[in-house]
Amino acid sequence: MTSFISELPKVELHLHIEGTLEPEMVFALAQRNGITLDYADESALRAAYQFSDLQSFLDLYYQGMQVLQTEQDFFDLTWAYLERSHADNVRHVEVFFDPQAHTERGVPLAAVIGGIVRALEQARRQWSLTSRLILSFLRHLSQAAAFDTLRQAEPFRQQLSGIGLDSAEQGNPPTKFAQVYAAAQAQGYRLVAHAGEEGPASYIRDALDILKVERIDHGVAAIDDAPLMARLAQERIPLTVCPLSNLKLQVINDMSEHPMLALLHAGLCVTVNSDDPAYFGGYMNANYRALQQGLGASERDLLQLALNSVEACWLSPEEKAVLT
Ligand code: ADE
Ligand code: ZN
Repeated sequence: MTSFISELPKVELHLHIEGTLEPEMVFALAQRNGITLDYADESALRAAYQFSDLQSFLDLYYQGMQVLQTEQDFFDLTWAYLERSHADNVRHVEVFFDPQAHTERGVPLAAVIGGIVRALEQARRQWSLTSRLILSFLRHLSQAAAFDTLRQAEPFRQQLSGIGLDSAEQGNPPTKFAQVYAAAQAQGYRLVAHAGEEGPASYIRDALDILKVERIDHGVAAIDDAPLMARLAQERIPLTVCPLSNLKLQVINDMSEHPMLALLHAGLCVTVNSDDPAYFGGYMNANYRALQQGLGASERDLLQLALNSVEACWLSPEEKAVLT
């Protein structure tokens, strides 16, 4: 079964590049950039990765990424993630980054995007590992700040496939970003948003109806709303679900309670993803294994999940055909 998972060609659709920052790289980059950390060593930092909810994770996530300062730092971060993905037989990735978390520290957007894109292009040349890049707005900040970021991204428009919405969900509903999503759509961006991770099922409906997203990131709260589930199944709207993330952030108490198989068997286009693997205990294969070992997913289930990711990704039909 484990070899079935490792040999399965996989596509990752929900991955925050800043969430791939392993403690070892935090310390290496801190040294390179002359930054003093609050933790004695890597194991002390790793020991702090105990989360009670999304916010307790976000506090450490924003703190950790302060070591990222130069184009080379963003290249090294992205390259390390791509090496791990290649080792997991991941063939295509759609990667989020959080520009506001860097520009508000004075890091130029050109350094952030330049370093990430240089690594993505090297992976395509070296392994035929393809990718898309998604600019994500921080929802705890204002819509005006998101508009400002959209404007700053204009010189990089060709490198960006879509926009997303992440960070603290509760109290920051999709409706807060209605106008900036309309503006991004008018510029030809594809649209996704985190919804129904910690927030209610109504946020999923609002992301679809008000933000006009084509894919929902997380979306596990759909399990609480039968009419919404029926709609998601009928319209084959993809959900980029992250099993180990949901466990680590206590969205569920045990993997045996995860709604993935209930959603899959109800006909939804659910997919497996790693979210912030350096913080949540595993990359793609580990997330598939958690479903197999903790939830009892069969090989048939895992294959359908992998096929759903191909269906949901932004490759052309010709490129998708190569993956299946
Ligand atoms: N930013 C990084 N990971 C996130 C998650 N799981 N939910 C919301 N915002 C995030
Ligand atoms: Zn996420």
